[in-house]
Amino acid sequence: MIYQKLGETGCKVSRVGLGTWAMGGDFWGSVTEQQAIATVRSALDRGINLVDTAPAYGKGRAERLVGRAIQGRRDEVVLATKIGLVWEGGMRHCLAPETLAGQLEASLMRLQVETVDLLQIHWPDPQTPLEDTLTELERLQRAGKFRYLGVSNFDLPLLQEALSKGSVVSVQNEYSLLCRAPEALMPLCEREGVTLMGYGSLAGGMLTGKYRGMPEERYDRRVKFYPYFKQPHLGRALRTVEALEKAARERGVLPAQMAIAWTLAHQHTVALAGAKTPEQVRSNAKAAELTLSAAEMDGLISFPDE
Ligand SMILES: NC(=O)c1ccc[n+]([C@@H]2O[C@H](COP(=O)([O-])OP(=O)(O)OC[C@H]3O[C@@H](n4cnc5c(N)ncnc54)[C@H](OP(=O)(O)O)[C@@H]3O)[C@@H](O)[C@H]2O)c1
Repeated sequence: MIYQKLGETGCKVSRVGLGTWAMGGDFWGSVTEQQAIATVRSALDRGINLVDTAPAYGKGRAERLVGRAIQGRRDEVVLATKIGLVWEGGMRHCLAPETLAGQLEASLMRLQVETVDLLQIHWPDPQTPLEDTLTELERLQRAGKFRYLGVSNFDLPLLQEALSKGSVVSVQNEYSLLCRAPEALMPLCEREGVTLMGYGSLAGGMLTGKYRGMPEERYDRRVKFYPYFKQPHLGRALRTVEALEKAARERGVLPAQMAIAWTLAHQHTVALAGAKTPEQVRSNAKAAELTLSAAEMDGLISFPDE
């Protein structure tokens, strides 16, 4: 495994991190408890120390399973969770300062830890001034509830605002061959020493090459979040998959590994790849050591939507 600094901190994270959204069991088809725990432990066995979860994944299920999986191995993990999505009837954004201590305490209980390493604002909350949220989070940080603060799903102006008001070490946004929007954040991340944590490196599984779209009767809810499984995005996704398959054959690796490696070309980036099984995580971990040439990088992009 290859490691890099988290922001400008002394904390080292694996360049490939484990994403645990699928372990919520509500969005991605079923993942048994046993399977989820084995997957997290297998990540640690492969040197993946960055484990990313959130209260929203299965309304606490993923956090609970991560908590069980890391029992006795807490010191091997850079534990990242999130705050600011609450379920009350449906999911809603909530960064109101008076709710944050309670939200975080519930995560700590589910994870069975005293403190998390990285707490990330999951989504912006347009109803709450960012400054009020950051002030309360700083208080919780000083109280030892988490070590470092990150943000997620922030665009450039919002990231600039967050950086001007507090100490932010990472930004977690969707980043893959099919979603390159975070490249607009990279110059700022480089200047300010902020880690770009790319999620959906496999575009929800599309870039593994095992999907050629999804027939309507088999849609699981991931299709609502990652639009690449159907038109108008499917055509570009399939052309990218073909390019990945060809390049992967030439290198003797798998398309998924090639896709993850592509997101790691920028030195301030780490990739979060979700996995449901130990086999998937073992395969994804290998991408950290795969370096693509400029020609390989270029050969994988520039397919327009239809
Ligand atoms: N901050 C946010 O708002 C946000 C949003 C989304 C995700 N995230 C984080 O980022 C993580 C990664 O993104 P993601 O899980 O959404 O999507 P992803 O990593 O692009 O795709 C993960 C899915 O691809 C399939 N897969 C993974 N490795 C594979 C392999 N080696 N071979 C074959 N199939 C493989 C698995 O599903 P199947 O086997 O069912 O195909 C897996 O669940 C999440 O788990 C979560 O921690 C954060």
